[in-house]
Amino acid sequence: MSRNANRIILLGGPGAGKGTVAMTLVDRFALQHLSTGDMLRAAVAAGTELGKTANGFMSHGALVPDDVMVGLIQERVQQADCRLADGTPRFLLDGFPRTMPQADALDRHGLGPDVVVYLVVKDEILVRRLTGRRSCPKCGNPHHVEFAPPLHEGLCDRCGTALVHRVDDQEAAIRKRIDLFHSQTDPLVQRYAPLLVTIDGEQSQERVARSVIEGLRALEATGS
Ligand code: AP5
Ligand code: MG
Ligand code: ZN
Repeated sequence: MSRNANRIILLGGPGAGKGTVAMTLVDRFALQHLSTGDMLRAAVAAGTELGKTANGFMSHGALVPDDVMVGLIQERVQQADCRLADGTPRFLLDGFPRTMPQADALDRHGLGPDVVVYLVVKDEILVRRLTGRRSCPKCGNPHHVEFAPPLHEGLCDRCGTALVHRVDDQEAAIRKRIDLFHSQTDPLVQRYAPLLVTIDGEQSQERVARSVIEGLRALEATGS
């Protein structure tokens, strides 16, 4: 990967495969995976103030307010595991930014991305993926009853924790999340056009992972 590709954003609709491909990228490139959805779900499970605030939005498929999300990310990226030894911020963002104000905040804090990986998947496929998804509440590893069944029924392949069906993976909440993706997050594709690595997210998981890695390596080769 190019030396300046320290900050990568994964962009894509709900169920596009951001969490799935993140697992491979983290192993390959030793990046800190920052999934705002996973961070919020951990806060809900722990019953913190943030969790109580977030739960009301998340369970219906609505977006958590920008100021809450910006504060959360800003605080998280200060930590040592999101920095190189010389202090350069280095991380993989999954689920952030999702709105223009969130993208503005990254730029304002000098945390704008070097590369934006955009996973393109049709809406009807997103719905099938989310209705059949089973998620690991501990490590975030996503499985699917049909497309990515766990090796041992009901248990995470990575850490053995019992898999759950997310509350927002019900049809009504899924539709709302897809609508919000188109109205709030789609404009970021335009904004990040010069940094975009666009990937056909409807390929198999293995091919998606390979395409993303090849896309990142091509950047290294050209240095662009
Ligand atoms: P978040 O957890 O980020 O949810 P999301 O963006 O809706 O994305 P998902 O995690 O549902 O999908 P994914 O792209 O990770 O797909 P996955 O790899 O799991 O956010 C949840 C909520 O938190 C939001 O609705 C909001 O309320 C709040 N929130 C979070 N961030 C926020 C922010 N910045 N601002 C405001 N609010 C925020 O894959 C999906 C399924 O498909 C899995 O079952 C998987 O096994 C399967 N699959 C993956 N790839 C493939 C493939 N290539 N072929 C076949 N199946 C595949
Ligand atoms: Mg995810
Ligand atoms: Zn797990």
